[in-house]
Amino acid sequence: MSLSRVIYTSRPFGFDQNMLNSILVTARANNARDDITGALICRADLFIQYLEGPDAAVRACLARIRRDDRHLEVVEQVQGPVAARLFGDWAMLDDPAQSLVWSRDEVRNGAVEAGTPEEIVAMFEALRSRVGRPVVQ
Ligand SMILES: Cc1cc2nc3c(=O)[nH]c(=O)nc-3n(C[C@H](O)[C@H](O)[C@H](O)COP(=O)(O)O)c2cc1C
Repeated sequence: MSLSRVIYTSRPFGFDQNMLNSILVTARANNARDDITGALICRADLFIQYLEGPDAAVRACLARIRRDDRHLEVVEQVQGPVAARLFGDWAMLDDPAQSLVWSRDEVRNGAVEAGTPEEIVAMFEALRSRVGRPVVQ
């Protein structure tokens, strides 16, 4: 079974905490079922999500996400096979934008479109090293 990842960006439509909570509840339940892990960086002006897992499961998940009307303009930024997971301990880690390297002004002025795959991957690697390992109780 081949492991792959997708990172996409999108623009939230009607963003608030309730909406985010309901996305995360569904995401975590489905991803645990589908062997998908990842992280969602979220701010009112931008979603950027890292999905990793079996290739077919990741594709199917992204197809559902594309149809979701809680966001617009879903654009794949990075995709392809990976040797190992980055967020193997998280069905969906959420980060309220601490990891975003772009300000709102920069996003408005096209920082996402100008961002490189390396810059985007580096954002998630920084998030991963910031959170360390989850505390087991
Ligand atoms: C920004 C965003 C991120 C999402 N992330 C996931 C995800 O990681 N996994 C998932 O199954 N659904 C995710 N969803 C929800 C899907 O779009 C869709 O509503 C859900 O998969 C349908 O699941 P259900 O058939 O169990 O209701 C996300 C939606 C949005 C808007």
